[in-house]
Amino acid sequence: MSPTQRILLTGRNGQLGTECGLVIPADCEVIAVDFPEFDLADADVLARTVREVQPDMLLHAAAWTAVDKAEEWEAEAHVINATATDILASCMAEIGGRMAYLSTDYVFSGEGSVPWREHDPVAPLNAYGRTKLAGEQAVAAHLGDRGHVVRTSWLYGRCGANFVRTMLHLMSSGRALKVVEDQVGSPTWAGGLAKALFALARASEAPPILHFTDEGIVSWFDFAIAIRACGLANGLALEESSVTACPGSEYPTPAARPSWSPLYFSDAWHDLGIAPSNWEQALQTALPLLLKEDAKAT
Ligand SMILES: NC(=O)c1ccc[n+]([C@@H]2O[C@H](COP(=O)([O-])OP(=O)(O)OC[C@H]3O[C@@H](n4cnc5c(N)ncnc54)[C@H](OP(=O)(O)O)[C@@H]3O)[C@@H](O)[C@H]2O)c1
Repeated sequence: MSPTQRILLTGRNGQLGTECGLVIPADCEVIAVDFPEFDLADADVLARTVREVQPDMLLHAAAWTAVDKAEEWEAEAHVINATATDILASCMAEIGGRMAYLSTDYVFSGEGSVPWREHDPVAPLNAYGRTKLAGEQAVAAHLGDRGHVVRTSWLYGRCGANFVRTMLHLMSSGRALKVVEDQVGSPTWAGGLAKALFALARASEAPPILHFTDEGIVSWFDFAIAIRACGLANGLALEESSVTACPGSEYPTPAARPSWSPLYFSDAWHDLGIAPSNWEQALQTALPLLLKEDAKAT
């Protein structure tokens, strides 16, 4: 079968990029790029890459994701998350292609009580959220209905630094952990999102904004408890560790975090054949894969 979709994937080695690389459908050809040969800060490289690859779809997963560091380095984060996205979106418009831009629950204020819908008002609390929002606006401005903003939250993959890996690491040292209870959201296994992105790439049409998370609304504390239970079920020696709840005020960070960030799983995914996964089942699938990666690294 000859490939029907030529896809340019940025952030090849990131959490999401790695998972995308593992679920490429047979009718898609993926050209995957990452830093340093593909530097989002280098406008010439961005334009040249799009011109040379001529993708039908750009899956733009690369980003400045260091949320706290963005507070001090907002101008630099803006270049990576907003300026580069603007250039990429303009290049994709020029060649008549489509683009899916990964964005975040952090574009919302956190003052809510029902899951955020696609067109709810945005009001980021931190610099990272502002730079990602500027990227969203660039995609909409250049691409109209050929641009798709895919917002997700609390993402974890088998590779890279994430909450699941950090918790397992701290728990295996037998520490007594305090984990924030008054910030609530939905974890997202990057493997599920990767499949959804390919469904989007192959769709003839889709809305300009889509929300994707695993199903369920939990606090970081709830998530940590589930990670501990899942680690124990997978034979990890976590018995000595303990997890207690604390308010966010006991764990101050440079960047403010939204207290309410669940995203409504967009109806459009069902039309694309994608259903949400239960967050605990997704964790049970993912955790052995994380452990396998850790075993390879030692
Ligand atoms: N992680 C989350 O909880 C979360 C939540 C909501 C939305 N998102 C969004 O989802 C997307 C994927 O997130 P992720 O967790 O997979 O991110 P990640 O693991 O941090 O990966 C980001 C990728 O971007 C690359 N990158 C960073 N700076 C670059 C530059 N100057 N030029 C080229 N590439 C660069 C990184 O390369 P290096 O490793 O070489 O730096 C890495 O491969 C991002 O757009 C993020 O904003 C993430």
